[in-house]
Amino acid sequence: MLLELKNIYKNYIQGNMDVPVLKNINLSIEEGEYVAIMGPSGSGKSTLMNIIGCIDKPTAGTYFLDGQEINTLKDRELSFVRNKQIGFVFQTFNLMPRQTALDNVGLPLQYAKVPKRERKRMCLEALDLVGLSDRVSFKPTQLSGGQKQRVAIARAMVNQPKILLADEPTGALDSKSGIQVMELFRELHERGTTIIMITHSDEIASHADRMVKIIDGELITGDGISDTESNISNEQPESEIMHTYDGINADSVGQEVRYE
Ligand SMILES: Nc1ncnc2c1ncn2[C@@H]1O[C@H](COP(=O)(O)OP(=O)(O)OP(=O)(O)O)[C@@H](O)[C@H]1O
Ligand SMILES: [Mg+2]
Repeated sequence: MLLELKNIYKNYIQGNMDVPVLKNINLSIEEGEYVAIMGPSGSGKSTLMNIIGCIDKPTAGTYFLDGQEINTLKDRELSFVRNKQIGFVFQTFNLMPRQTALDNVGLPLQYAKVPKRERKRMCLEALDLVGLSDRVSFKPTQLSGGQKQRVAIARAMVNQPKILLADEPTGALDSKSGIQVMELFRELHERGTTIIMITHSDEIASHADRMVKIIDGELITGDGISDTESNISNEQPESEIMHTYDGINADSVGQEVRYE
């Protein structure tokens, strides 16, 4: 198992209130899987993504990434794991505005102290992978939204991480650019990258092989591990549950819960 979250809780302290955001999350993802995470706004998707991405630590519970227990790592070790294992893609690209596509893609390599010449070779290869060989010296303002996101994907993948984490990767794109991003994800998936993608769109989620839903901080999955799911199975026959939650059947999904 590449990734294993066990009984994960996340609370935020707000003033003198302890706000529970993630409640007893259990989730396992195997190497090479392509998983979509869906759920209403504020349900805890990004919070969960930050924990999976080692950006944030859970309040309670254990998280194993590639056999390593993440909770026990110090901040420096954590950023090492993050840099080596995980590529991030965000809704609003998060590119450095003053740097060229090439330099943006090179950032993770800079952190990893890869020598300059090697860095350039790897960046050019990554930009070629996303079809932007002719835009290497363009800055973000000189690129379209779809191109910016492809630069961000090249940056996420330049280190050849095992996991690609994407938080609404097509949320700011027109449908054509969104389709290009999904084609790229499919290609990366075929090369063996594990992809975990947050989306609000059934259409985008249908590109993944498995979907998990998060509602009010609780997970509803197809693999029968959450309490919430057993609540639902009181109301529906089991075969129907598997049909609804196991595959990505956009039509059957959403009857139980509505997304905005
Ligand atoms: N740093 C923080 N401090 C306090 N509360 C927070 C913090 N970050 C998130 N929250 C709360 O946690 C809840 C979940 O937030 P999160 O960003 O994970 O939602 P989301 O599912 O990603 O929503 P969206 O679809 O709108 O991006 C929200 O109610 C939010 O107010
Ligand atoms: Mg979010």
